[in-house]
Amino acid sequence: MRQAGRYLPEYRALRQKHSLLELCRQPELAAAVTLQPIERLGVDAAILFADILLPFEPLGLGLTFAAGEGPQITRPIRAASQVLALPPVDPATDLAYVLEAARAAARALPSHVPLIGFAGAPFTLASYAIEGGATRSFTLTKRFMYAEPRAWHALLARLAELVGGYLAAQARAGARALQLFDSWVGCLSPADYVTYVLPHSERALELARAAGVPAIHFGTDTATLLADFARAGGDVIGVDWRIPLDVAWERIGPGRAIQGNLDPAALLAPAAELERHVRAILARAGGRPGHVFNLGHGVLPETPVEALQAVVEWVHGG
Ligand code: CP3
Repeated sequence: MRQAGRYLPEYRALRQKHSLLELCRQPELAAAVTLQPIERLGVDAAILFADILLPFEPLGLGLTFAAGEGPQITRPIRAASQVLALPPVDPATDLAYVLEAARAAARALPSHVPLIGFAGAPFTLASYAIEGGATRSFTLTKRFMYAEPRAWHALLARLAELVGGYLAAQARAGARALQLFDSWVGCLSPADYVTYVLPHSERALELARAAGVPAIHFGTDTATLLADFARAGGDVIGVDWRIPLDVAWERIGPGRAIQGNLDPAALLAPAAELERHVRAILARAGGRPGHVFNLGHGVLPETPVEALQAVVEWVHGG
């Protein structure tokens, strides 16, 4: 997860010529961008170049990315009646370009570097669909959830079927692990998570797992939700920096792998301070198998490439 390559000069160069959606829609370009951090950083896995919001186009919600403003949804969901009117979506045809990019990237990657496919989790997708863009408060989302519980559950159930099938299709196209991004679910209380979200994330992960590759269940600000979040599924649970890795692992349970949890802002620190952060995480993992070193959220655009290269070296034992 590096949302994105904005820290990479070679990504910015491509973006001069193509919009984000153009890069996503051209499989050769998407595959080339997927490989950029592998070539630059020597990380152990590649994440497919796409976006969690791409399914909004076939869902008829309309999607644009305005420079500096993040995603914009042209026809947000504000009424219960809109949920039932959502058209059927078949990832094999409606998102064929993403699957083609996955095939091209899987072909181009060295065999020791697995490709990670991904999708947005039902809650995080619903929050964008309802808010119409980025939000800090999730007011419209929560109002819809509380006021229209039947439509809410219908919407999340629709999204769970869609992303579950979409993830499985990415595995068939060559992804060797799948990541479900519930980036904003930490805005919910544990009780609301269990009532309004958990069954739907569980369904999406169950459908994804049917493809036979491991699934990473990612969220941020989930410290208080972790036990329930892990219960929803995932072979690997992604955690951010707001909780110490060993404390999070305790809450997730011993049988599960964990991914995380460097604060992306630590990459802006002087090298010695950054190294202390990295080594502290490795110490908390204590050499136990099943720790996937990662950032707790995406790479900030202002991150120096050298800082990322240093982190990879330290984690690899340098
Ligand atoms: O990380 C990668 O480069 C792989 C591809 C990828 C993108 N988006 C491309 C992208 C991935 C894994 C994502 C996931 C994604 N997209 C998430 C979940 C992960 C997370 O960060 O929590 C979310 C919530 C989105 C939705 C989204 N897309 C937002 C909020 C933004 C705007 C960000 C901002 O600060 O402006 C995007 C745009 C986006 N998606 C970019 C890229 C490379 C932005 C850069 C650009 O315009 O070129």
